[in-house]
Amino acid sequence: MIKIKKRKILLLPGDGIGAEVIGEVKKIINWFNKKKSLDFQTEEGLVGGVSYEKHKKPITDEVFYKALESEAVILGAVGGPKWDNLEFSKRPERALLKLRKELKLFANLRPAICFKQLVDASSLKPEIVSGLDIMIVRELTGGIYFGEPRGIKPIENGERKGINTHSYTSSEIIRVAKVAFELAQKRNKKVTSCEKSNVMEAGVLWREEVQKVKDEDYPNIELKHMLADNCAMQLLRDPKQFDVIVTDNLFGDILSDEAAMLTGSLGLLPSASLGAKDKNGKMRSMYEPVHGSAPDIAGKGQANPIASILSFSMALRYSLDLDKEADNLDKAVQKVLDDGLRTKDILSKGKKEVSTSQMGDAIISKLK
Ligand code: IPM
Ligand code: MG
Repeated sequence: MIKIKKRKILLLPGDGIGAEVIGEVKKIINWFNKKKSLDFQTEEGLVGGVSYEKHKKPITDEVFYKALESEAVILGAVGGPKWDNLEFSKRPERALLKLRKELKLFANLRPAICFKQLVDASSLKPEIVSGLDIMIVRELTGGIYFGEPRGIKPIENGERKGINTHSYTSSEIIRVAKVAFELAQKRNKKVTSCEKSNVMEAGVLWREEVQKVKDEDYPNIELKHMLADNCAMQLLRDPKQFDVIVTDNLFGDILSDEAAMLTGSLGLLPSASLGAKDKNGKMRSMYEPVHGSAPDIAGKGQANPIASILSFSMALRYSLDLDKEADNLDKAVQKVLDDGLRTKDILSKGKKEVSTSQMGDAIISKLK
């Protein structure tokens, strides 16, 4: 059998349930290596609180360089109450932010899809969410997350002042808008761009630049501008009006959690963070479930591995050019849900509760 070239994948399980869910991804990678003669080479590293415990920093240079050299990084989750009081630079989240920023992963793709088997898991009425399929494109390396100046400083009257800066340049807006329009081109050809141009200059610029990209390069795409607060409301009122949503780092953080919950569980949703393509069409990338480290259920075998497994599927599709394998994996997840297997987060009456690893095994048993 012909072996294709080695594909380097870095696994960063991180904190909380990260190790459990990435453990299931590992099993799937091994299955592809064995059964499909693929040559995924995985390495692992510490990030987040677990790295802090060992090295007194949330990510070491060694792990960072491994990420630089990988074709795809798959991350579990970072953070937990244990590290909440550390100074900012040592907090687990800094690892994530450093990887995003320094790997230049400016486009964060967060699909919110309501699986037909799980319409009842949503807190919204089934008719509002069934068939829901939204793609949120969140700008990931700019805006208030990284803007300068920032900090907490004393001021004259003995008070302290907390400062963060929200700013965007034209090129930062244009490159992420293009990603959104390209995605819409392969979907329902609708982009909704969200900002607060009624109160923020950076929002005015956002709106103008996105409109320019559409006018110049994507005349066939329907573009709607929407204020971010209205978008939050519309997501609950009529989420199926959306196809692709493009928005800044902070609004994207918030709106993607909201959209995720429409689907019933954060435990199902993957994400991809992508950089620019180089001249060979390759790009840096990191894939992670949208859910966090869920310290309350860590180590109990209750976590839902589907978000991580679907994140790996996105890696197959976007970074590794293995669409067939991604389809295979997506279908296996659907079949297991059809069979009525559920982790605790998506359990409903008449369905069978399974553990993290039972879910992983069931998905593997459906791979072709
Ligand atoms: C996310 C998370 C992160 C963010 C945290 C963990 C820093 O909420 O990926 O949405 O705010 O971006
Ligand atoms: Mg978030």
